[in-house]
Amino acid sequence: MSATRFSESVSGSIRDGVLVITIDNAPVNATSAHVRQGLVKAVDHAVAVGTVIGVVVTGAGRTFVGGADIKEFGMPPVEPTLPEVMSRIENCRKPVVAAINGAALGGGCEIALACHGRIAAEAASIGMPEVKLGIVPGAGGTQRLPRLTGTIAAIDLIGSGRTVKPEEALRLGLVDGIATDQMSTAIALARGMASGPLRRTGGIQIATPDASAVDAAAKKVLAKARGQAAPAEAVRLVRAASETSLEDGLADERATFLRLRDSLEAAALRHVFFAERQAGKVSKLEGIAPRMVETVGIVGTGLMGAGIAVAALTAGYRVVGIEQSEDAAAKGRERISGILDKAVQSGRLSDLARTACLDRLQVAADAGRLAAADLVVEAVFDDLTVKTELFQRLDGIVRPGAILATNTSYLNPDEIASATAHAERVVGLHFFSPANVMRLVEVVDCRATAPDVLASALAFAKKLGKLPIVSGVTEGFIGNRIFSAYRREAEFMIEDGAAPDQVDAALETYGFPMGIFNVYDMAGLEIAWARRKRQAATRDPNARYVEIADRLCEAGRFGRKTGKGWYDYSSSEKAVDPAVSVLIEAARTAKGIVPRTFTSGEIVERLLRAMADEGKSLLEEGIAARSSDIDLVMINGYGFPAHKGGPMFVADTYA
Ligand code: 3HC
Repeated sequence: MSATRFSESVSGSIRDGVLVITIDNAPVNATSAHVRQGLVKAVDHAVAVGTVIGVVVTGAGRTFVGGADIKEFGMPPVEPTLPEVMSRIENCRKPVVAAINGAALGGGCEIALACHGRIAAEAASIGMPEVKLGIVPGAGGTQRLPRLTGTIAAIDLIGSGRTVKPEEALRLGLVDGIATDQMSTAIALARGMASGPLRRTGGIQIATPDASAVDAAAKKVLAKARGQAAPAEAVRLVRAASETSLEDGLADERATFLRLRDSLEAAALRHVFFAERQAGKVSKLEGIAPRMVETVGIVGTGLMGAGIAVAALTAGYRVVGIEQSEDAAAKGRERISGILDKAVQSGRLSDLARTACLDRLQVAADAGRLAAADLVVEAVFDDLTVKTELFQRLDGIVRPGAILATNTSYLNPDEIASATAHAERVVGLHFFSPANVMRLVEVVDCRATAPDVLASALAFAKKLGKLPIVSGVTEGFIGNRIFSAYRREAEFMIEDGAAPDQVDAALETYGFPMGIFNVYDMAGLEIAWARRKRQAATRDPNARYVEIADRLCEAGRFGRKTGKGWYDYSSSEKAVDPAVSVLIEAARTAKGIVPRTFTSGEIVERLLRAMADEGKSLLEEGIAARSSDIDLVMINGYGFPAHKGGPMFVADTYA
């Protein structure tokens, strides 16, 4: 069995008369130019050699093909294009079968679709995540997928960009079989096809879809699009597949792909993609091994602690939750199992996994149980004395190698650490609520944090499936410091003449799921009020300070939970409240401000600039390591629209 090399990344060998083509282009077998060139040569070779009766395409390593090479986007085109490769595969007169050994994404999925048969390994995952990169599939995906799965499933898959596991792929008709030994099965399938007519995906007639079901599937995709172009285009192209010829559909798809690929939206989403791969990489930690963490202690099982517990349990950790009384412990356990139950109801967790999670959970009033923990995360009231006393007590309980993590949002973790016996084992793990859902975790590298403690905190957050971003110590860390600057600017504009609903509408049109005043009303205004009161004595008397939020709180308007805040919630809809307008007017009059008008464009521009300026300070102070980390914090913790790339990306792009 001698191997033939078709390009630097594509080789082939004959097995049972079948040419097995292997794509080996680390790290993810992306379809770089040499892969495309190699594939065409390999298929041509299979056709030319009379003894070859079929072809199997597979990927080396854990991935089948991770998609088009995103790093090539924007570079001069190199022949052959991916659609040309697909057409060569689909029109090959000998059977071509995909042996999908791992992730087949984007262009990788499209290769599989162009083949005459598809066998998935149990470890395979299949999808077209192009919309997440601001583009549509560009090598036939929108035209071939509906021919295999029908229009409705194709709208769902391509419009959402979600990835499916083999069982679902089989159910949808996306693959023909699942096998433990996908290679032998694929070879057998290719051999079996050699004598009969080939089923070319492009030649399949799409069954006329039910118009109302198509509308419903499209509506579902568009509802989540938040004004992005790609999902709408993807839906349009999939719909067109049942109405036009393959040739016209492919031409439309390619033109749309090229147009979107060069858009700012796609550039922003590519920035986010690469930013995520950079995040959590800390050069000073190279070669530092994280400590072993198997048992996680969580002190406080309120909303935050319970969320962290669920994240840790579902990631496979043993969890010891600690409360102050037996009654509170029972309630904490109930809260945790309640969240797990909801995950089962929504299909995100199996019944079996839920039981396994509960088996790994203890919640008790006895802090002594934390002696078993490798890492303790405190999620108690955000008060310096409470947290410091707790950590001092933990010093006497936990084993010497255990790590202590604080989930504080605003306190100085260096102060908490320096009050303990071993400041080097203290780190910040700032989760966002609900902690079992929100992806962002700020990992706070305190003054004395030992490198392997920081490495362990990062590894822990990654194992939870979170996106860890390292932050230095500063009031509010990266996210809340930028949020404070953003809020300050929004309040300046209110005092100068803008209305809260106007600011919110401008932000929502830009792509935020919710405007800032709406967010405040959801979260409650009282915590920030208490903080402002604490800071009042040390505030710079010459700095501009807007008192409107204080007036709202003094009037008992703490947001949605009290029925009134920046808006009125006495009817089921949020409504502009004339009483708030009066209060704002009074604040302006007190300062002698003559209100001016703001356009939505100016509102957004000023808010973005405030965020970027604060981000720049964080970089200068060394609090954030890279500007893309700041973008990720704002996108994943504060609703900044990913398709705009984050405040730093916007500032750099328009600089
Ligand atoms: N092109 C270029 N580089 C890629 C890439 C791609 N499509 N996908 C991943 N990489 C790079 C990453 O940047 C990273 O580089 P680094 O080591 O320098 O940071 C490296 O590969 C490894 O990536 P991950 O850390 O993400 O590796 P994982 O093993 O965790 O995940 C994966 C592998 C599931 C394939 C994941 O990388 C992924 O989801 N990739 C993107 C898939 C995608 O979006 N494909 C569609 C591309 S667009 C397309 O195909 C258009 C077509 O329709 C014409």
